[in-house]
Amino acid sequence: MFRPKHVFICFLISFAFFIDPSSQHVDDVKKQQMREKVREMFYHAYDNYMTYAFPHDELKPITKSFTDSLSELGNLKLEHLPTGYNGSAVTLVESLSSLAILGNKTEFEKGVLWLSENLKFDVDVRVNLFECNIRLLGGLISAHLLAIDPTNRLIQGSYDNQLLRLAEDLGKRFLPAFETPTRIPYAWINFKKGVMENETTETSTSGCGSLILEMGALSRLTGDPRFESAALRALRQLWRMRSSLDLLGTTLDVVTGEWLEYSSGIGAGVDSFYEYLMKAYILFGKEDYWQMFRSAYLASQKYFRYGPWYHEANMWSGKPTYWQLTSLQAFWPGLQVLVGDVAAANSSHREFFHAWEKFGVIPERYLLDHQMIHPTERYYPLRPELAESTFYLYQATKDPWYLDVGEAMVKSLNRYTKVAGGFASVRDVTTMQLEDHQHSFFLAETCKYLYLLFDDSFVAKRNYIFTTEGHPIQVMSSWHEKLPESYFSGNWTFSKSGEWESGASALSMKVCPSVAPNSRLREQHRESVCHVPDQKIDHKCWSNRECGVDATTCRQRSCSEVGFCGLWNPL
Ligand SMILES: *[C@@H]1O[C@H](CO)[C@@H](O)[C@H](O)[C@H]1NC(C)=O
Ligand SMILES: *[C@@H]1O[C@H](CO)[C@@H](O)[C@H](O)[C@H]1NC(C)=O
Ligand SMILES: *[C@@H]1O[C@H](CO)[C@@H](O)[C@H](O)[C@H]1NC(C)=O
Ligand SMILES: *[C@@H]1O[C@H](CO)[C@@H](O)[C@H](O)[C@H]1NC(C)=O
Ligand SMILES: *[C@@H]1O[C@H](CO)[C@@H](O)[C@H](O)[C@H]1NC(C)=O
Repeated sequence: MFRPKHVFICFLISFAFFIDPSSQHVDDVKKQQMREKVREMFYHAYDNYMTYAFPHDELKPITKSFTDSLSELGNLKLEHLPTGYNGSAVTLVESLSSLAILGNKTEFEKGVLWLSENLKFDVDVRVNLFECNIRLLGGLISAHLLAIDPTNRLIQGSYDNQLLRLAEDLGKRFLPAFETPTRIPYAWINFKKGVMENETTETSTSGCGSLILEMGALSRLTGDPRFESAALRALRQLWRMRSSLDLLGTTLDVVTGEWLEYSSGIGAGVDSFYEYLMKAYILFGKEDYWQMFRSAYLASQKYFRYGPWYHEANMWSGKPTYWQLTSLQAFWPGLQVLVGDVAAANSSHREFFHAWEKFGVIPERYLLDHQMIHPTERYYPLRPELAESTFYLYQATKDPWYLDVGEAMVKSLNRYTKVAGGFASVRDVTTMQLEDHQHSFFLAETCKYLYLLFDDSFVAKRNYIFTTEGHPIQVMSSWHEKLPESYFSGNWTFSKSGEWESGASALSMKVCPSVAPNSRLREQHRESVCHVPDQKIDHKCWSNRECGVDATTCRQRSCSEVGFCGLWNPL
């Protein structure tokens, strides 16, 4: 499926063939209406936060109060909670890039000024490095870049890089976490005190492997290389710890460098590791990132994928472990669009949307082998991943069906989760019982991706990558290791050997599937010549005879103990 990049990166030609003008008009009217509905959703969430919770971290929409949740993020056991911590305005930081995309200059400026004067990180609070990186550091850096972009004119008065200075202060507080024998950072850091005594040495693959976008951007903006090198060293070490199958586990020990959980997939605990390899390649142009991503992606397709589904597998044996659909996995089709694997993205996305339709929203975990919702993970905390994938797929295909998906999601969110004081998480998707929490990512991501689905003028203007928290970072030539030959500063319209389309967005970077492109896109996605499909479409089997030949490796698939065809035999 993958070939060397210089041969196979090609363009995402518009998929929008033969759109007749009248249906185009219907789509435009619908997009406008839906865009306004999403705008209302954002402001309902935002205004209630500003009224009842700001400057605390997040809103409790049912009781119209607040929660200082920064220390609780990722902290399932709620350990080491601080006393006297009054919040870091997390939801405001997370809202800035959305305000910019909605075009609300006054509110953006107001937020920037307030944070400049009031946000302090010299507080005694233990935070999760990953959460803090994607929400606060990413939020600040993205807002800074938007503020200095002259085409936005978001700031009326003068802006003196205050957000960047805050980001730098925050980044410096991250650095002690990296002082481990492996150079893989601790998962937890105290803003004021650094790494705490007896801190847990356990971290997750996504927790230590998805820091490079924010910390890399911080180094590029400040000229201080420490942030990027710390994140890159950790990422390289993590990659060195992969198995011979190019698989990683889910959790590891940062002191001993041993894996603690061998099972992994594309969901919780790993997800953004894959995402950041690909996006770091787009943002920084370093060949290394591509090489790592390419191997990791291939392995994910070999060992996790079943038709449109992804299960987990043991990193050493490649054998499947858990057959589960999780809400977080729904980001994967969006990543596949960036890679150019649109057909695969489309088929997985449809399954996630079926789950959404079936339950009204998407449950956190669904057991594919038992066809039931996980007994304790029945919630839907307003997660953005399905909206995100829908946005990417619409960008790639312009198929109006994705607009219908977005509309259905907007309807469900308003129907089940809207309350007078904001939007509330769903505690149990089978009863739609609510929980008194509006996560900041609802504003940073869920509303943003739905808005961008219906109005993409923001991404049409410039090339951005979106961090895993939905914060846009502009793709700039000056950040690229190897400057493309025909590159003009501030002009991402590089055309060397046709690698980038003139005016192309990062979204349109596409790696061709194995069959050479032709005008019929559907045929283009045929798998390789050796491919023999499994006998049953759902890949279930009783014996090896019912299994076919793997398209990627041309190896014979066999029937696993749990009755699915796959590449279970080691090479
Ligand atoms: C948090 O707020 C409480 C009550 O207003 C105040 O007593 C305390 O000093 C504040 N803590 C900090 C760290 O500012
Ligand atoms: C910007 O946001 C504020 C706060 O919600 C709102 O009062 C104002 O009308 C918004 N402005 C625009 C142009 O949407
Ligand atoms: C850290 O662990 C040691 C040994 O178990 C113990 O004596 C010490 O009190 C612990 N320190 C803290 C702050 O919990
Ligand atoms: C997506 O899947 C649907 C249903 O199988 C199909 O009709 C459509 O053409 C696919 N679109 C792309 C871009 O692959
Ligand atoms: C941007 O690049 C394109 C393609 O190389 C070129 O035609 C165009 O003049 C450039 N624009 C600027 C402002 O340099």
